[in-house]
Amino acid sequence: MKTMLDSMDAARIIGYFKGKNILITGSTGFLGKILVEKILRVQPDVNKMYLLVRGIDAPSAKQRVQQEVIGTELLGLLREKHGNGFQRFIEEKVVALAGDIKYDNLGLEVSRLEELAKEIDIIVNIAATTNFYERYDVSLDVNVMGVKHLCQFAKQCAKLKMLMHVSTAYVSGDREGMLLEKPIMPGESLREGAFLDVDAELRLVRNVKKELNATNDAHKTELNASDSLEAHQTERKAMKELGLQRARHFGWSNTYVFTKAMGEVLLGQLRGDIPVVIMRPSIITSVRADPLPGWMQGTRTIDTLIIGYAKQNLSCFLADLDLVMDVIPGDMVVNAMMAAMVAHSEERGTQVVYHSTSSLRNPATYNVLYESGRRHFTENPRVGKNGEVIPTSEMYFFNTIARFHLYMILTYKLPLEILHLVNLLLCGIFSRLYNDLNRKYKFVMHLVDVYGPFAFFKGCFDDMNLERLRLTMTMKTQEDQMFNFDPKTIDWDDYFYRIHIPGVLKYLCK
Ligand SMILES: NC(=O)c1ccc[n+]([C@@H]2O[C@H](COP(=O)([O-])OP(=O)(O)OC[C@H]3O[C@@H](n4cnc5c(N)ncnc54)[C@H](OP(=O)(O)O)[C@@H]3O)[C@@H](O)[C@H]2O)c1
Repeated sequence: MKTMLDSMDAARIIGYFKGKNILITGSTGFLGKILVEKILRVQPDVNKMYLLVRGIDAPSAKQRVQQEVIGTELLGLLREKHGNGFQRFIEEKVVALAGDIKYDNLGLEVSRLEELAKEIDIIVNIAATTNFYERYDVSLDVNVMGVKHLCQFAKQCAKLKMLMHVSTAYVSGDREGMLLEKPIMPGESLREGAFLDVDAELRLVRNVKKELNATNDAHKTELNASDSLEAHQTERKAMKELGLQRARHFGWSNTYVFTKAMGEVLLGQLRGDIPVVIMRPSIITSVRADPLPGWMQGTRTIDTLIIGYAKQNLSCFLADLDLVMDVIPGDMVVNAMMAAMVAHSEERGTQVVYHSTSSLRNPATYNVLYESGRRHFTENPRVGKNGEVIPTSEMYFFNTIARFHLYMILTYKLPLEILHLVNLLLCGIFSRLYNDLNRKYKFVMHLVDVYGPFAFFKGCFDDMNLERLRLTMTMKTQEDQMFNFDPKTIDWDDYFYRIHIPGVLKYLCK
């Protein structure tokens, strides 16, 4: 990063958003809500906040924003601050747009798009499909073409000062060693000799779908409702498998991170001279400080461990307790985004990549999470339906995939094979049971295949660029602390014990 950064404090960040028109995608999601709340709270004089959400029309988009963003617990502090004037304040500042980033014009009327292009100062693209095993066509539409469409729109915006794109640190793949904050170049992939051509991937999907449709059309005369459902399911499965297969061909572990990487490539190619910041968080965890410690939405992989432990329905887990899980609280990601938008506003031609991560500056191991969980549940034992105390038992951790596979073969696969044999001998009386158990077995193995690489991730995210930005921050006043994005200030044990675990139990384990 070559740009010189001026000193930064809360007043500068807050002042920057005054009078601005901001277009935000992904506001109904976890991170998007935290950003919307923060800007509205710290800068009530923001001009307009346009929230592009999927909906069939304007009223349904408005209703979604009202229910899924404005009406949530996360906005409690803001609601309190404005009292009776809250709804008026929201009506004045927040505009819901019914759209979809997978379309050329973002799913908006051309005239509306033209009006917006005159007004918008800042675009924040948070929208994504975050499913690791998403259909390839859907992932490409949202995580790749969505970025392209926003970039095309950004270029039409007469007074645009910033395009902030949220990506993921895992676009670097599950490599070992130091992973840098550097852009991904066109053609670059994680597998030596494999040239990644985004257009070729788009063509491939179109062709595979065409072939699948042709096969269905061949049977069309007899195609009834159940056949068409089957055709849909076949396409769905084929698209999901194609995503995983292409991701792995180029060295990424799943469709999500692979398509996020392609989104970055396209942004780099198309951005022209618009100022671009790419923020790459690692695993985003609950809000640590404000507005609502512990608040979160959507279960991350590490939270399945907490939920399973809480419910005592998970006796083992796939993780090496000594490995670092790179996590970062959602409010810190948002603070970093806001500071970065201010720092690079109107820097024409600039593209800066930031890692909002913790593994380099303040690594947290799985063991810290496990121990704080054990402490939490020992001190606050769970109570069953009949008022009985549920004892907290130890959890077993498989620290290699090979060990897990061996365990699964001995405990489940062998008995399943025996059941299969018995079933054959008894003319199929156990067919249903066998098919059911076999399906469950395959499902677990599939989960491990998709999520396993994250559990044994050995990389470390360098965050030199973000550290430079941090060093410009004066942290003198209480207000300055509201924009803290320094992971070194986190006491992980305290955060997990006091904030994150209670947050998971309150917001995810309802
Ligand atoms: N959560 C993490 O741990 C994490 C870590 C690293 C990076 N990130 C990145 O951070 C961003 C936010 O993640 P998140 O956890 O907040 O995700 P999330 O909760 O799944 O939210 C995704 C958002 O994107 C919207 N969206 C999806 N497809 C869309 C489309 N075609 N058009 C318009 N909007 C669409 C969703 O809208 P609907 O409500 O209509 O579905 C939702 O608002 C993503 O870009 C993700 O890649 C997340």
